[in-house]
Formats: sequence, C-alpha cells, structure tokens
Amino acid sequence: MCGIVGYIGISPAKGLLIEGLKRLEYRGYDSAGIAVLGDSGLHIERAVGRVAKLEAKLEHHTAFDGSLGIAHTRWATHGGVTEANCHPHTDDKAGICIVHNGIIENYAAIRTWLEERNHTFKSETDTEVLAALIGELYDGDLEVAVKAALREVTGAYAIAVICENEPDVLVCARKGSPLMVGVGAGEYVVASDPSAIVAHTTRAFALDDYNVVRLTRDSIRTSTIHNKAVTPKVMQLEAELGQIELGTYDHYMQKEIFEQPCALRNTLRGRVDRDEGRIVLGGLLSRAKELVRARKFILTGQGTALHSAMIGEYLFEDLAKVPTEIEYASEFRYRNPIVEEGTVVCAVSQSGETADTLAALDEATDKGALSLGVVNVVGSSIARQTDAGVYLRVGPEIGVASTKAFTGQVTALTMMAIFLGRRRLMSVEQCKQLIAELESIPDKIEQVLQQADQIKAVTEKYIHRENWLFMGRGYNYPIALEGALKLKEISYIHAEGMPAAEMKHGPIALISEGMPAVFIANRGAQYTKVLANIEEVRARGGHVIAVATEGDTEITKVAEDILWVPEVAEPLSPLLTVVPLQLLAYYAAVARGHDVDKPRNLAKSVTVE
Ligand code: AGP
Ligand code: GLU
Repeated sequence: MCGIVGYIGISPAKGLLIEGLKRLEYRGYDSAGIAVLGDSGLHIERAVGRVAKLEAKLEHHTAFDGSLGIAHTRWATHGGVTEANCHPHTDDKAGICIVHNGIIENYAAIRTWLEERNHTFKSETDTEVLAALIGELYDGDLEVAVKAALREVTGAYAIAVICENEPDVLVCARKGSPLMVGVGAGEYVVASDPSAIVAHTTRAFALDDYNVVRLTRDSIRTSTIHNKAVTPKVMQLEAELGQIELGTYDHYMQKEIFEQPCALRNTLRGRVDRDEGRIVLGGLLSRAKELVRARKFILTGQGTALHSAMIGEYLFEDLAKVPTEIEYASEFRYRNPIVEEGTVVCAVSQSGETADTLAALDEATDKGALSLGVVNVVGSSIARQTDAGVYLRVGPEIGVASTKAFTGQVTALTMMAIFLGRRRLMSVEQCKQLIAELESIPDKIEQVLQQADQIKAVTEKYIHRENWLFMGRGYNYPIALEGALKLKEISYIHAEGMPAAEMKHGPIALISEGMPAVFIANRGAQYTKVLANIEEVRARGGHVIAVATEGDTEITKVAEDILWVPEVAEPLSPLLTVVPLQLLAYYAAVARGHDVDKPRNLAKSVTVE
C-alpha cells in the first residue's frame, strides 16, 4: 500500500527516485509524484496512474536537477484519485514539501485551525494539512518544525520532508507506517521497504514509532519527536537485486509460485535435524522454556497470513498438543479479549507491517502475552516488536497475491509445531518421520508444478464462470479459503471457501448446472466424507474439480477434472494442495487479462486500518 522514496547525496535525484518508485510499485497505488530541490529551486511533478506516466511527464522537464528529492506512490485515503491530491504536497507559507504514507486522523480539526490563520488548501488530503502545519510552525529549522507538528497529530505516518530554505536537509519520521534509512557513502536513501534501497546500499536501519531523522550529505541525527536521542540499529539487508528481478517469467506471481521449492529449501535450511528428530529454531531458543510451558497459543493475522495461521492451529493442537486459537487480527484488537496467564500470541505476516496485525500484537502484549512473529521481511515492525520469532527466508515477495510467503508461513508453523511437540509429547520416531516428510516437500512441489499446463487447461474450461465454491476438511479447510481468496483477488471472479460439511447448511442452494466446485480431496482422515460431499454437488449439476492424491482411483469416478498431488503425511498436505489452486488463480487472471501482480484496489501491505 503506497510507498515513499527520499534521497540526499551526490548523485542526481530524479532518476534514482523514479527507479525507487518502480521498486515499490508492487505495494499497490493509484498515483505518483516527485519533488527535487536543486540550484534552480524546487520542482514538482505528479501523475494519476502508473509511475511510467510520471516518468513520461518528466521528459518535458529539463530543470529537474538537484541531488535532494522525495517521491511517492499514493493509495488514496483522503480525497479522490486526482492530480491535485497526488503527493508531494507543499504548504502555502514556508516552502515545505512533503510525502506521506498513512492517515492523519485529526486532520480536519487542524485544517480548521489553520484556515482560521488564513491558510488555504489546494487538495482534499490530510497530508496537505500536515504540510501546512509544519509551515505554520516553521521558524528557520525544519527538524524542529516537523517535530512540533508531529506532537500535534494523531494517526499513522511515514513522512519525508524538504524545505526550500534548507536545500541540504532531508527530515523523515515514522509512526505506524514503515520507513527505512539506507546508509550509503555520502548519501542516504529512505524508503518504505528494502526493495528501493538495496540498489544503493545494503546497510540500513528502520525507524521506530515517533523517531525523527535529520539527514544532510555528511551527517545524520536520529531522535524522538520529544527530542530524546536515538541510536539507530544499522542492519545488513538481505534482499539482493537479483531476487527482485522478474527474470524469464511473465509475472512476479508466476515466478514466486515456481520459486516455492527453492524458497522452502531456504526456509528449512539449517533448521531440521532428521537424524536427531529435532527442529532448530534459533529465533525461539531464548524463549523455549516459556513456549514449552505455554498454556495457550493465539495465532493471528489477516488474509492469506490468517489462512496459514489456521493451519497452524491444526498443527499445534495435533502435534504439540497445546490449546491453540486463531483470531482475525482486526477483530481481536477491538473486542477487549481475555488473555490468560501463560498465553503466547503469534503474529503471522509476510510484510511484518500489516496495521491490524501490529495492533492485535500490541493488544495481546499489553495484556501480558509473550509475543512471537512469523514474518518474511527482516527488520520489519512485527519482527522488531516481538519477543522472539521465525523468519520465512523465502526472499522478497513482489506479487500482491501471496504464494511463496504462504507456503513459507505454513512451513515455519510446521517446524514450530514439531519444535514444541518434541519438547512435549511427540516421540523421537514421530519427529524423525515427519521431518523426513517435511524435507521431501520441495521436491513434491516440483512434481505438482510439472502439471502446470494441465492445470492451465482445466482453468480455461471454466473461465467464463462468475461464481465458484471451494471446499475442504481438516487441515485442508484453510486451503479452501486460500484457494478462494487467490481466485478472487486476481481474477475478480467471486469465490467462496468453506468447510465441506458447511455446504449443506446453506451454500448448497447456490449449486447450479455446471457451477465449478473445487474440492480438496486428497487422501486423509475425512476422505470418504469429502467424497460424499462431492456426490451431493454432482447430484445438483455442479462440476467438480478435485485436488487429489496421485494413484487415487475413487476420485476419477466422481470428479470432472482432477489436479494431482503426491502422497504426503496429512499435516503436511496443505503445502502441496495449495499449489494447484495458486496456479488455477494465476491462469484465470491471465486468461481474463488482468494485472496479475497489481490487482485493482489491492495493496501488498495494508499499513492502514
Ligand atoms: C494475500 O494474497 C493478500 N495479498 C492479503 O490477504 C495478505 O495476505 C494480507 O494483507 C496480509 O499481509 P501480510 O502477510 O503482509 O501481513
Ligand atoms: N492519507 C494520504 C492521502 O490520502 C496518504 C495516503 C497514502 O498512504 O498513500 O493522500
């Protein structure tokens, strides 16, 4: 969701900022803008639509010189998608120029206060109000004015601010929306995430809430909005540009689906000891005793991350025998939950920046829970705010629709369940067997991927159908939800996932002649029950697409189309059954001509409520 890039250094800022915006496009946005401050003054350009449109408009500008600048991709919250509402925004008094991710919640009251002081506004945005407030409080020192303004606002922000009167200063600040500072040689690159920084430096630090950083070409000062000094923790960014390039694929989502075998080998590497039947998770060791003695786990997240958490619930109770609940983070944070002693809350998130998940984490920890993070982005807010955790190590995920991060989350949760189970009631032999099966997963996913053409052909048979059902049981009930979400979010076809047994409690009324009904019907404890549900759909004219276990002959009698997966222990089956559904959604979106990597209305990281 939206993105910020800022630069101060010795190189021309314009091209660098545009390249940075392109690296952030995957986050989702509706318009873009750039400002550069140089010897010829402050220059601003904006464009509704893609960054390429902004770039085309810049070709008409020769004056965009200067090695200080800020740029923005907007995901509108206050004010329509218009050029007037694009960032950067300026104030009407002190030459302030700002880009902002987030929401200034008390902007209306501040705008009224400023209008009473004769300020005028050109946009509908909350961001322009913040620019004007900084301008109103400006008295010759940009950092001081920014801090004074931020002490007055409520809401979420990641901002980069420049001022015409201070052509050698870039001030940034953060609360609730992510912002990182890349530390180069005589230059600094600030951005919403590492992908816009790694081309320039892999040394960076993340701002914490209420942090303000003042940058010049040869100095850096980090403090809080209340002037308390802060020592930044500079880290080594992992993402290499190569991991972010599209390569020979048509889309990032396609690349990330096919990358899963390699990505999961990285997730597993150094963490599974088959001979000893042990899982080694360095990020949990410091809290192992508390985790083993925990009385309850709460797994929380949103969207796809919640679906992996749902599989975690089955894994933790089945393998570690510890009471486990899942919670929509957005619901948990507001319902004043009861968090008993001995509770561990685990936030699952690819980006580590999802606002609702962060807030749920805060709610649980405020009530005494120990907190864990299962995240992909190193140094993300959730990673930094939790007591312990497990990184996915699947590499940057660029496609808005989450694929390798999902299987990475499920793999991490599986390892955590065995980590706990081994210290609770799982036998060594049981651990050894499950670990051996877990290590076979990447190869088995490769077998599924080899059927891509068949899956594409099945998908294209039903591409005109506007309503689909997805059904599964047990470990594969969350896969039904995930398969439906994937199809919805990139092909815009309406799809509903549910426990297969739930179908008879209403949704079966939807079954019409030829309606696609996807069943996850792999060999498992409830296989015969799923077969019965399939018969119920067939009796009403539905067309059954089954994800089934290779060699199963029963399923061939009842399913119109079958997407095969190799045999595997049931707790690990979601790692295989999800892959055909990822491909089905991908091919559906391609066939319908949609923007697979940047679906309409969606953002890669939902950093606002
Ligand atoms: C998944 O395909 C969606 N893009 C979305 O549901 C996503 O999983 C959700 O917004 C959570 O994001 P996170 O994993 O970065 O927290
Ligand atoms: N709230 C600001 C606006 O609507 C910023 C939105 C964003 O994060 O891109 O312009």
